[in-house]
Amino acid sequence: MSTPRLSQLLDSAFAKRQSLLSPNNDLVRLIDGEGDDFPGLYLETLGGHWLISSQGPSLSQELKVELLDRAPGSLYWKRLDQHQKEPPVHLGGEEAPEYFAGLENGLKMRLSFQAGYSQGIFLDQRDNRAALRELMAPGKTLLNTFAYTGFFSIVAAAAGATTSTLDLSQVYLDWARENFRLNKMNPAEHYFCKGDTFHWLRRFAKQGRRFDAIVLDPPTFSRDNKGNIFRVEKDYPALFELALACLTPGGTILACHNYRGMTAQEFEDQLRKSAPSESQIRSTKMPPDFIESPYLKSVWLTV
Ligand SMILES: C[S@@+](CC[C@H](N)C(=O)[O-])C[C@H]1O[C@@H](n2cnc3c(N)ncnc32)[C@H](O)[C@@H]1O
Repeated sequence: MSTPRLSQLLDSAFAKRQSLLSPNNDLVRLIDGEGDDFPGLYLETLGGHWLISSQGPSLSQELKVELLDRAPGSLYWKRLDQHQKEPPVHLGGEEAPEYFAGLENGLKMRLSFQAGYSQGIFLDQRDNRAALRELMAPGKTLLNTFAYTGFFSIVAAAAGATTSTLDLSQVYLDWARENFRLNKMNPAEHYFCKGDTFHWLRRFAKQGRRFDAIVLDPPTFSRDNKGNIFRVEKDYPALFELALACLTPGGTILACHNYRGMTAQEFEDQLRKSAPSESQIRSTKMPPDFIESPYLKSVWLTV
C-alpha cells in the first residue's frame, strides 16, 4: 500500500509533464529528483518503458509497488552510484525487447536496456535538437561531434541536411547508422568519422572543410585511444576555437557541457572571449521536464 503523500507526489510530477507526451513523443523525464520532491530519484519514460534511477543498493518497496502499478510497460531500475556501471535491472512488467524505439517529435531512436549503462539517448538535449532541426535545411551541412548514437544528426538529416557524425566509439557510430535506417534515411548518404574530435577538427580545418552547423557536446572528462585527456574546465576553449576554424561564414555552433563547476554565464563569457566580435551568442535553458538543476549549459553562437 502506498501512502497518500507518495501518490500525490507522483500525480503532481506526472501532471506537470502530461503536455510533453503525445503520439509523436514518448521520451520524457517524469520525475526529476528534488525538483519533484524526490531527492536522488529520476524516472524516465522511454518508448513506453519506465527507467527509475537512484543511488544505493535497493529501491524502496513502497515506491517500487506504486511504480509497477502505474507503469504502462516494463519497469527497469538503474543504480547511479556503482563503480562498475551495469545495465539497468528489470523489476517488473513484460520485459522490453533487446532493442525498441522511442519517439521524439516524430523521429525514432533505437533504445536498449541490455546494451550497457546508457540507453541510447540523452533526453536533456530535446530542445536543442528541436532548435537545430529548425536551423537545418536541404543543402546545409552539420558536423555532430561527440555524437553518441547520433540524434543531432538524425534531426538535421530529417530537415534535409547532410551530416557528419563523429565519435570515438565504433559501437555508437553503428548505432547511429541504425538510427538513420530506423527513420527511413540512408546512412550511405551521410558521413561517419571514428576517432578523437580534436584530431578530426584539426584535419577538417587543414583540408578546408567547413560546416554550416557544428555540435560540441563533450563528456566532462574523456580520454581518447592515444591517452589524451579532455577536461571541460580546461580544454573547452581550445575545442571551441578548433570548431570555429571549421565553420562556414554565417554558420552556427552549439556548445554544451554538463560540468557542474561552471555556471551558464561563466561558460558563455568564456566562449565570448574566443568568438569573433561580430558573433551573436545566446544561452538556452534545459527542457521543462528537467527542473532539479540547470546542469546542462548550452550556448548557441552564430558568426
Ligand atoms: C555525453 S555523450 C554525447 C551525447 C550526444 N551529444 C547526444 O546528445 O546524444 C559523449 C560521447 O562522446 C564520445 N567521446 C568521448 N570522448 C571523445 C573524443 N575525444 N572524441 C570523440 N568522441 C568522444 C563518447 O564515446 C560518447 O559517445
